[in-house]
Amino acid sequence: MAAKPLPLLLAAVLLTYAVCALSLPPCPPCGSTPVPYPLSTSPSCGDPAYTIRCAVAAGGTLFFDSSNNTYPITSISATTQRLTVAPSPFVPNTCVAADLPSNGLQLNPSAPFNITSSNTIFYLNCSESILSSPLNCTSTSLCHVYSNGSNSASDCINTPCCAFRAGGSTTSYRIRVREAGCRAYRSFVNLDYGLPVSQWPQPGMELQWLLPAEPTCGGQADCGSGSTCGPDPNSNRGVNRCFCHSGLQWDPVSGLLCRDPDGCGNNRTALIAGLGSGLGAFLVASVIGFLVYKHYRRIKEEQERLTREREEILNSGGGKSAKIFTGKQIKKATNSFAKDRLLGVGGYGEVYKGILEDGTIVAVKCAKLGNTKGTDQVLNEVRILCQVNHKSLVGLLGCCVELEQPLLVYEYVPNGTLLDHLQGPSRGLLSWTCRLSIARATAEGLAYLHFSAVPPIYHRDVKSSNILLDEKMNGKVSDFGLSRLAHTDLSHISTCAQGTLGYLDPEYYRNYQLTDKSDVYSFGVVLLELLTSQKAIDFNRPPDDVNLAVYVQRLVEEEKIMECADPMLKEGASTLELETMKALGFLAVGCLEERRQNRPSMKEVVEEIEYIISITTAKSVD
Ligand SMILES: *[C@@H]1O[C@H](CO)[C@@H](O)[C@H](O)[C@H]1NC(C)=O
Ligand SMILES: *[C@@H]1O[C@H](CO)[C@@H](O)[C@H](O)[C@H]1NC(C)=O
Ligand SMILES: *[C@@H]1O[C@H](CO)[C@@H](O)[C@H](O)[C@H]1NC(C)=O
Ligand SMILES: *[C@@H]1O[C@H](CO)[C@@H](O)[C@H](O)[C@H]1NC(C)=O
Ligand SMILES: *[C@@H]1O[C@H](CO)[C@@H](O)[C@H](O)[C@H]1NC(C)=O
Repeated sequence: MAAKPLPLLLAAVLLTYAVCALSLPPCPPCGSTPVPYPLSTSPSCGDPAYTIRCAVAAGGTLFFDSSNNTYPITSISATTQRLTVAPSPFVPNTCVAADLPSNGLQLNPSAPFNITSSNTIFYLNCSESILSSPLNCTSTSLCHVYSNGSNSASDCINTPCCAFRAGGSTTSYRIRVREAGCRAYRSFVNLDYGLPVSQWPQPGMELQWLLPAEPTCGGQADCGSGSTCGPDPNSNRGVNRCFCHSGLQWDPVSGLLCRDPDGCGNNRTALIAGLGSGLGAFLVASVIGFLVYKHYRRIKEEQERLTREREEILNSGGGKSAKIFTGKQIKKATNSFAKDRLLGVGGYGEVYKGILEDGTIVAVKCAKLGNTKGTDQVLNEVRILCQVNHKSLVGLLGCCVELEQPLLVYEYVPNGTLLDHLQGPSRGLLSWTCRLSIARATAEGLAYLHFSAVPPIYHRDVKSSNILLDEKMNGKVSDFGLSRLAHTDLSHISTCAQGTLGYLDPEYYRNYQLTDKSDVYSFGVVLLELLTSQKAIDFNRPPDDVNLAVYVQRLVEEEKIMECADPMLKEGASTLELETMKALGFLAVGCLEERRQNRPSMKEVVEEIEYIISITTAKSVD
């Protein structure tokens, strides 16, 4: 898993699939059309058995290639595994299908697609011999109503025709036209026979895909710890696949390997098992001579004494143990802060990926200080940070004050940020349930900072890029308390606004104070991002809607809140799910109240989200 100098987003996405899901990632959108898993537009994404074609030149149009022809795809529903293609048009001014030379639509029977029984098919311009078939070819058949009532089929009036529902054993894979039979066809999905022809939908042929099997593997290395590479019992050709350990499931809809059926991610044990005794290794000295040895011992002893003292400061107060790292250790772990180890640059400094001597992967954050603070003061702040410990907070493992800037060593959360996921190609992995559980986890983390940390910690920079996702897609709040390490004196505050544009409490401009309710405001914006998959600030929206909070508040006033919900979430959602989306939207708007006293506390936000989740889970039982 060597780090490569890739843009951060791409790196995060690659990391996601290298560490977590072993199937290939879902494909990027074709133009603006999302391409859900397992559909595949290139060998590097989706499942290759589900290949479709993206024609970028055609403005990003997807095509379905059958055995002998190609058809544009007009819609895709990932939740029902269905897609609709536009069937072959007529040769102009005739009642002959353009795909007559290739005998009509023929799916490869060994490909994982079939024609669904939602299609009503009309065979047109048939030879007389067909009239004795079991199809409905009577004079009252709907195909006559169609050719008599539709402009595009007007050439077919008075030709013998038949109607039927597709999906029988032979028509699951082909709609056959030929010179000696019928020469044209039309298909409609979910046709309401009661409607006049003028109100029928556009012609379309609906196909369904089989859910994909687990990804294939060459060996255990391809599968990771959540699954085992083993022979596929459904294949006699020696194919091996990654099979999930018991209690976990392959998720064929999202392509996520081995998720906990109750959670929303992969259930691998945490990558970070805690720090080993790396420091002890330093005692193993190779002795060249007695004097060198003594000299070395003296330095070592001095270093150890310093380390012990610092750890004592850090650990007084009963928090979980944090280590003091030496500058040398950190330099080694980060390959001397090599460019290819840079994970990102945040408001408080740069973050590097580090690999400790015992193999533990960590994130090393360089705190950029606004003004100089004494070592003791920094250590005191770090001590407070080290005592906050909650499953929804990114754990602080230790620090290093030897170099010019204090360095904080955090547990490494491998799966990128919430922002990356909402704005990247893996957005489809974030189901509504998954988004709700990310909302709950991060709200719990913030409530813990506000109400359980002593003294309370206000995050001051809550945003989706500060929420990391672990390999189970659990949300974890990062960067909390870093504002403590930066300056806090008032003279600086007015010149250097804390927080991030789009998330910043409007009351801040009144009194230049950030409180717990400022975090609640910023969290409200994060909730909107979860609901809408839109950016907090986006200049591609109309000028009045650039700010997501303002935009959604306007929709609420116009009683159209659901207009902003992510179309991918709304598609195929049950009425109940739509209701819970609305409820979360209203909660978010409550957090965005202009006056701080009208906003709920973080504790109340947690309770509200739990209530929303309880509605969805209670109902899904019956
Ligand atoms: C019906 O099909 C025949 C045979 O392909 C073709 O010659 C004829 O023009 C078609 N009828 C109409 C009305 O297009
Ligand atoms: C269409 O494809 C099928 C399946 O591959 C093949 O058997 C058939 O010969 C093809 N027909 C034509 C007319 O190309
Ligand atoms: C054929 O379709 C017409 C119109 O839907 C219907 O009234 C008729 O009963 C059908 N006939 C047969 C034999 O299925
Ligand atoms: C065809 O359409 C005309 C005009 O809409 C209507 O009068 C006639 O009854 C229709 N014929 C059939 C067979 O449906
Ligand atoms: C098409 O495939 C789906 C998924 O395997 C299956 O449930 C359905 O019965 C199939 N439909 C037909 C008409 O064969």
